[in-house]
Amino acid sequence: MAVATHKIGAAIRGEFPILGHTTYLNSCSQGALSHRVRAAYEEYLDGWDAHGAEWAVWVERADAARAAFARLLKADPSELAVTTSVTQGVSGIVSALDLRVRPRIVISEYEFPTVGQIAHAQELRGAEVVHVRPERDGSIAPERFAEAIDERTALVCCTTVSYRTGHRHDVAEIARLAREAGAYCLADSYQAIGAVDFDARAIGADFVTGGTVKYLLGSSGLGFLYVRRELHEQLLPSQTGWFADEDIFRMDISDYSPAPDARRFDAGTPPVPNIYAGLAGMSIVEDAGTEAIEEHVAALAARLHDGATELGAHVVTPRGARSPLVCIRSTDVTALVAALAAESIACSERDSNLRVSLHLYNVEEDVDRLLDALRRNRSLLAQ
Ligand SMILES: Cc1ncc(COP(=O)(O)O)c(C=O)c1O
Repeated sequence: MAVATHKIGAAIRGEFPILGHTTYLNSCSQGALSHRVRAAYEEYLDGWDAHGAEWAVWVERADAARAAFARLLKADPSELAVTTSVTQGVSGIVSALDLRVRPRIVISEYEFPTVGQIAHAQELRGAEVVHVRPERDGSIAPERFAEAIDERTALVCCTTVSYRTGHRHDVAEIARLAREAGAYCLADSYQAIGAVDFDARAIGADFVTGGTVKYLLGSSGLGFLYVRRELHEQLLPSQTGWFADEDIFRMDISDYSPAPDARRFDAGTPPVPNIYAGLAGMSIVEDAGTEAIEEHVAALAARLHDGATELGAHVVTPRGARSPLVCIRSTDVTALVAALAAESIACSERDSNLRVSLHLYNVEEDVDRLLDALRRNRSLLAQ
């Protein structure tokens, strides 16, 4: 598929000052700061200076974020809650589960800590948490989920891309298995959204969550929760707030009357500065187009995979996984990350894996620079 070269790769690098001095391969931790995001923060501050409390603008900006998330997920804005984090979205979902009838929560071993910890916190409400473990090669096949899901299961949690290994889950199949058993499926997609083309409805997950820190190029403090529209009425979160009310401006404290759609998973005052930044970051992703970004990233990932394999390294992430995160096993990953940092190459580590993440602003030269550095640090690569 053709790539829109004027919005991707070499043509867009000038938008990100850090790329002038660093080979930035750490978008899985945080996306690079752009001029556009910096200007958005300025715009927020200018509005505050000029007009004081811009309430109407803030509510409108929160809805603009809702709409942007919806476009990225190919969903309807009514299916999106604007959150401050994945944590808020997941907590909202579990607060709507009736664990008396279905106490089981199934989680994969690749869940981000917040998902696992929230699941285990539900043990205080009688939940039973079951972990689905990976195979020796690091993959987790849907069959392993099938073994853990039963008629007492309320929720099945999986990750679209593992933050630890770069493996992708077959979310569509896991969602199907969950639904067959009458359970919900939640796909934490933080490590995918913005770097892969995403169609929430086609995937069939009931809930999808993520945020703007990584491939959406914004800052911390802004996330989303997609809730499939057929579920809105049956889910009543007990974790709530005034921005989740059917009429925010009525200021009514006499009852609990949540919005009829996914906005019932919103909470308090929206994270306004982060919304300005998030909208700017997402606009860069949208300008490039997620299909084009996915193709661009897949080509870079293949180049990295081949080069690292040629060096005799053990690449944990399967080739062709269509994951923006490629993990390479190291004998001493902390030393390897430090050695790369000394050469102005930014990567990160998890377990004993070097995490290399690729995004729209990365180019073949970034991959080649990294491969050269890995060659010089061959003793730190595990076979
Ligand atoms: C897969 C995944 N989920 C969740 C998070 C973060 O969750 P929260 O937005 O609650 O801090 C991260 C990264 O920090 C992540 O990589």
